[in-house]
Amino acid sequence: MNPTTPTMLDTAFKKDVFKGLTSFPKYLYSKYIYDARGDKLFQDIMDLPEYYLTNSEFEILDSHTFDIAKLFKGNDDGFDLIELGAGDGKKTKVLLRYFSENDFNFVYKPIDISQNAIDTLTNALAEELPKVTVDPEKGMYFEVLKRIKQYNERKKVLMVLGSNIGNLLHPQAIDFLSQLKGTMNPGDLLFMGFDQKKNPQTILDAYNDPTGVTAAFNKNLLHRINRELDGNFNPDLFKHWEVYDPETGTAKSYLVATQAMQVRIEALDLTVDFDAWETIHTEISQKYDDKVVTWLANESGLEIETSFSDAKGYYKNYVFRRKEYH
Ligand code: AVI
Repeated sequence: MNPTTPTMLDTAFKKDVFKGLTSFPKYLYSKYIYDARGDKLFQDIMDLPEYYLTNSEFEILDSHTFDIAKLFKGNDDGFDLIELGAGDGKKTKVLLRYFSENDFNFVYKPIDISQNAIDTLTNALAEELPKVTVDPEKGMYFEVLKRIKQYNERKKVLMVLGSNIGNLLHPQAIDFLSQLKGTMNPGDLLFMGFDQKKNPQTILDAYNDPTGVTAAFNKNLLHRINRELDGNFNPDLFKHWEVYDPETGTAKSYLVATQAMQVRIEALDLTVDFDAWETIHTEISQKYDDKVVTWLANESGLEIETSFSDAKGYYKNYVFRRKEYH
């Protein structure tokens, strides 16, 4: 059968895998790492000592709670706190606890693509912080953004933690920030985490842990193609490889074929030829500095109100407002 038959490429996953593995150089999108196994491996990454991002952001929320709360707190009408990609909410709970203990008038709206993550978080919050009103929603960022536009009754604070923006190239990041700005009114805030440029070795170590969790996370793309698209990748024949360019601040992940091979993907009716040492580019994890974040904000119609850093300067959370044109 002709592999480009439309019925064969009937999902975005199939289309993207087909396109990525028939392109030169080959690539796969990192968003497809996150099935149930990928989610679990990412949780394991966040517990790795080398993956400093989680602890750095936790430290920021924990040590600047008072100042962050002061910014978020609205007038008597209170505010809606809308978190995109809430995950297990471990870091967010630091803020929620403070808001709850100080009787802030707010609703917490966690949004995540994983129903499992949403359920676990909602149950945990009901148990640990029963006074917090939680209004969860399952969905993809861009679908949900359309609905967020309806939150116009009172101040809203949009929150995106984890330097998730780093998995986007700059033009996509500008598009994402512009869409967020499109949902914001003049008094609204965007609170977002950006991993910072630092000693290149520290960054390489964060994406190249000696226990191999990050390698397993990266290779989950191949496992997922095997499982869902009836592929016959041998993930052991690929090497996880990380590079970091300190000039651009871009960390890039690859899977490198350690020998020439053919891989068959039945659901796509596709045979893929690999030369020895041929690459599949799988992920970017962009690192930032103030200049780049200021530029991104400016391109997106936002301005930086302030930012918070951890003690080592590894990571920053920026607070943005809509740029007002006079
Ligand atoms: C989710 N994202 C921000 C992580 C990152 O740091 O790029 C995903 C990740 N990839 C390898 N380790 C963690």
